[in-house]
Amino acid sequence: MKPIHLGIVGLGSIAEYHLRAFGRLDGVTLAAVASREPERVARVVREYGVAQGCRDYDQMLTATPLDAVVICTPSDLHAPMAAQALRAGKHVLVEKPLAVDPQEVDALCRLAREQGRILMAAMTARFTPQYLEAFRETTRGAIGGIQQIVIRWLEKKTIGVNWEGKAVSVDPRTSTALYHHGAHMLDAALWLAHDEAREVYAIGAKRQALNDAVAVLVRTRKGVLVSSVHSFNSPIKIHDCVIVGDSGLMEIRGYETLTVNGQVKIEVPWRTGLEGGVYNQAAEFVAAIRESRPPIASGEEVRATMAALAEAYDQLAKQGAQ
Ligand SMILES: NC(=O)c1ccc[n+]([C@@H]2O[C@H](COP(=O)([O-])OP(=O)(O)OC[C@H]3O[C@@H](n4cnc5c(N)ncnc54)[C@H](OP(=O)(O)O)[C@@H]3O)[C@@H](O)[C@H]2O)c1
Repeated sequence: MKPIHLGIVGLGSIAEYHLRAFGRLDGVTLAAVASREPERVARVVREYGVAQGCRDYDQMLTATPLDAVVICTPSDLHAPMAAQALRAGKHVLVEKPLAVDPQEVDALCRLAREQGRILMAAMTARFTPQYLEAFRETTRGAIGGIQQIVIRWLEKKTIGVNWEGKAVSVDPRTSTALYHHGAHMLDAALWLAHDEAREVYAIGAKRQALNDAVAVLVRTRKGVLVSSVHSFNSPIKIHDCVIVGDSGLMEIRGYETLTVNGQVKIEVPWRTGLEGGVYNQAAEFVAAIRESRPPIASGEEVRATMAALAEAYDQLAKQGAQ
């Protein structure tokens, strides 16, 4: 098997998860990493056995023989950096959100098609064992046709501090509850519904510097109702997804449990679910490259999520709650 030479840019919190996941995959060589911090480059090269450390993205793209790159930089850099990698002929896995504007997603998809390269978004929730299995169950018809999906992700979170307690850059759009949690959950809901949004209604509130509480209602083209509710102000973490079907019900709690028609099918600790999601996502990216096929969460597939989020964001902006 010809190894896939992989480069990772932006060595912050999520990059460590990608490094561990890709490092475990057969047939992948961690060929390069790029960071603006030479000490971080040196540590990552040493800890993960990476072939080459680069001082920046340009150097990584031009001076190392790479097949694929993973983009782990702040959200506003995703689209331009993905475009640069595609133009350089690399397959690209981009952290979420792929882009904020559906037209930007279209331009990236066009570029990927022209270059004959894979473009995939790291919609990690989809790849957790619970959501992957729930999707398979919907495909098998375990609960009949999907009628309704109810999602809540409520927790205490300070804007500008990530899930590992690290200060991160704040972007007026993607640091909101809508994009931060909603990007994952609305995406998972539309995927589980096997559909895209026809109508989107959003209301929000702002106690921190940006919108930190939001409720989004979606009616899909086939008539599935989705409600996706998020808050950064809940003293207790609640993260769940209920899928109501014509003949049954599934419930996912966090990245921990999946219950199908009252029977627990998966039960793991949160961290195992998250790490499993990042691993499955990496495996899907590599498999899609090897098989020359669109991956789950391809640019084309996640366009529907990005369009729904953009519509919701515009409505919040009109309310002054963005
Ligand atoms: N899929 C998921 O479940 C998930 C989970 C968490 C985060 N994310 C996404 O991952 C991305 C990164 O989040 P994070 O929490 O890992 O943030 P982070 O710890 O701040 O890491 C981002 C890294 O990007 C690099 N960077 C920052 N500003 C830059 C600039 N102007 N130019 C070039 N590089 C720059 C920095 O790396 P260097 O200092 O090494 O250059 C920084 O460490 C975000 O877009 C977030 O939405 C996704």
